[in-house]
Amino acid sequence: MSKYYVTTPIYYVNDIPHIGHAYTTIAADILARYHRICGHDVFFLTGTDEHGQKVEEAAAKRGLTPKAHADGMVENFRSLWKKLGISNDAFIRTTDEPHIKTVQALLQSLWEKGEIEKRTWRGWYCTPDERFWTEKDLVEGNCPDCGRPVHEVEEENYFFLMSKYHERLVAHIESHPGFILPESRRNEVLGFLRSQTLGDLCITRPKSRLSWGITVPFDEAFVTYVWFDALVNYFSATGYLAPSLVSTEGFSPLLTMRTPFHETGCGSGRFWPADHHLVGKDILTTHAVYWSTMLMALDMPLPKTLFAHGWWTVDGKKMSKSLGNVVDPGAVAEKFGVDAFRYFLFREVPFGLDGDFSIAAMIGRVNSDLANDLGNLASRALNMIVRYRGGAVPAPVVETEREEHIRQVAEALPARLAESLAAPRFQRALEDVWELVSLGNKYIEDTAPWALAKNPADAGRLDTVLYTTAETLRVLAITLWPFMPGSMQTLWERLGLAGKAGNISAMKNFDEEVKWGRLAPGTKVFKGDALFPRIDMENLNEQAAPKENAPVTTSEPPPEKTPATPPENVITIDEFARVQLKTGKIIEAERVPKSNKLLRLQVDTGEMRQVVAGIAKWYTPEEIVGKTVVIVCNLAPAKLMGVESQGMILAASDAEGNLAVISPEKPIGAGNRVK
Ligand code: MSP
Repeated sequence: MSKYYVTTPIYYVNDIPHIGHAYTTIAADILARYHRICGHDVFFLTGTDEHGQKVEEAAAKRGLTPKAHADGMVENFRSLWKKLGISNDAFIRTTDEPHIKTVQALLQSLWEKGEIEKRTWRGWYCTPDERFWTEKDLVEGNCPDCGRPVHEVEEENYFFLMSKYHERLVAHIESHPGFILPESRRNEVLGFLRSQTLGDLCITRPKSRLSWGITVPFDEAFVTYVWFDALVNYFSATGYLAPSLVSTEGFSPLLTMRTPFHETGCGSGRFWPADHHLVGKDILTTHAVYWSTMLMALDMPLPKTLFAHGWWTVDGKKMSKSLGNVVDPGAVAEKFGVDAFRYFLFREVPFGLDGDFSIAAMIGRVNSDLANDLGNLASRALNMIVRYRGGAVPAPVVETEREEHIRQVAEALPARLAESLAAPRFQRALEDVWELVSLGNKYIEDTAPWALAKNPADAGRLDTVLYTTAETLRVLAITLWPFMPGSMQTLWERLGLAGKAGNISAMKNFDEEVKWGRLAPGTKVFKGDALFPRIDMENLNEQAAPKENAPVTTSEPPPEKTPATPPENVITIDEFARVQLKTGKIIEAERVPKSNKLLRLQVDTGEMRQVVAGIAKWYTPEEIVGKTVVIVCNLAPAKLMGVESQGMILAASDAEGNLAVISPEKPIGAGNRVK
């Protein structure tokens, strides 16, 4: 059986997940699901990157150990992946003991092979980026990457002799056109490698400066550079988290590996090398250069494809905490439906290019492609089978050129999808499938089953038309399932197939399953609610969730209602949606020295944050501690009396000068969205 191994980057635990994290993870999920129903032996890995200075600092700010900080933050990722229907086979954390052992074994092996050297190094260090720069790299004395100030360091460190592999890396990229994709990114990497001399890579940090990392096995005074540690995750996971190995207890890389892969004895030859490492464009160089040369030095095969995708802006602007426009994927999915969100991300923009996210664009897509095209096709086809044939799919009688055409388009899909998803080109794959959606709708218009139903002489023709539309839906449910697993499984069930053929996820032969004519006449279908309800921008406020909306209709949208006199300073739902309100539990409170008004609060909003609130006249620190309040979480941080405030607490005040903080009416946990 052929294997397929796909990875996402491992995400830093000092941030909460945003649309960028969701994007790569859903992409990997689509590929994993697709390969599974093709019958491939799939390993889909995601996880978290937990070492390094930034994590150490973030933990110190919260008064936690780095591990305790990471243990809490990692749950944000796990719960989001659950919500978004992510089917990862494993979740790696770089603090996992077997991963640490693998990193140490690989370092030891490189050290013994003479691939690592100790040197005294003088240069410039950018703390936020955790990267060293030489004098000539700096731009006006600042970090060339982020523009922030750097500071001079002189210290002993270990260097991986990366420069040795310069020529071999260029040759590998040149001779493997699919190694870096898309092609434009491949050309960029090649251009950079041809125009610059590759240096050696500093892969340690002295413990005197940073202690939160993996101890270097041959020198206890050092920890491993976080990127060296992180990249190894792709390999170490194959040794202790890959499907048939998950139950391996008491992992010891040198003793218990079933398939010792090379001299270090770590990892598993069954899944390595990875088929697709999916990464954002900003971390392509670390993968293409550091990871590739590390593997070369270890005599290990290189991954088959590094795919660098583009970045999302939000409403035309770069996404940033200070602009307060960071998109929370969980909130979007809750409001518009997980599958609508998944579909939008991959239909809107070619994978590889940058894209712009806006609620308006998403609603436009959902309404036109999902509610109108696909949803409508499903509801019309199922309705007619129920109305004209009591819900039982009739057997086709006479097939004409029209049916032949649909059959051909449907049967061509497996090959087209295989090609589109190989790169992967998700947008093209969806366009391929949408040809069948459009054809299905056109077929219904052209054959006018409602007219055939009026004439008993056309009964056979009507049977053929109804069978053809139902069979079209069956093919669509399978081919779109990797993209929209929840709603396509629902469609599958409405087609009466769940009982017989089980779940789509259990399929193992995609090409066979998609073959025309597998839907057995007599199968009982049912209508159900709209698969993708139309989202009405104007009523968005009142709509709790799309699933509870009115069913899809084919009629024109209702005429605009005469609006009530608009209040002043109207904001759109988009603008409102940008304000992130969450419940927060006040854990600690104290007066800000020299201020009568301000309290400094430590608030748990799913993560700990410091909020400075002007409520000291109305609440003592003792009174406020333990209360659950509402916090504006995405307000740009500000300093009040020299103390940083990361958010604002909501309170109401009246003309008499009374003030009351706003609290939920019933007990509810901290960190929940207020909307
Ligand atoms: N920990 C490293 C990766 C190590 S992999 C061995 C890291 N982590 S991260 O948490 O910063 O994750 C970043 C991922 O999110 C990257 O792939 C990055 O490109 C992606 N994105 C961050 N912002 C993004 C957008 N606005 N749009 C799309 N993706 C973006 O880097």
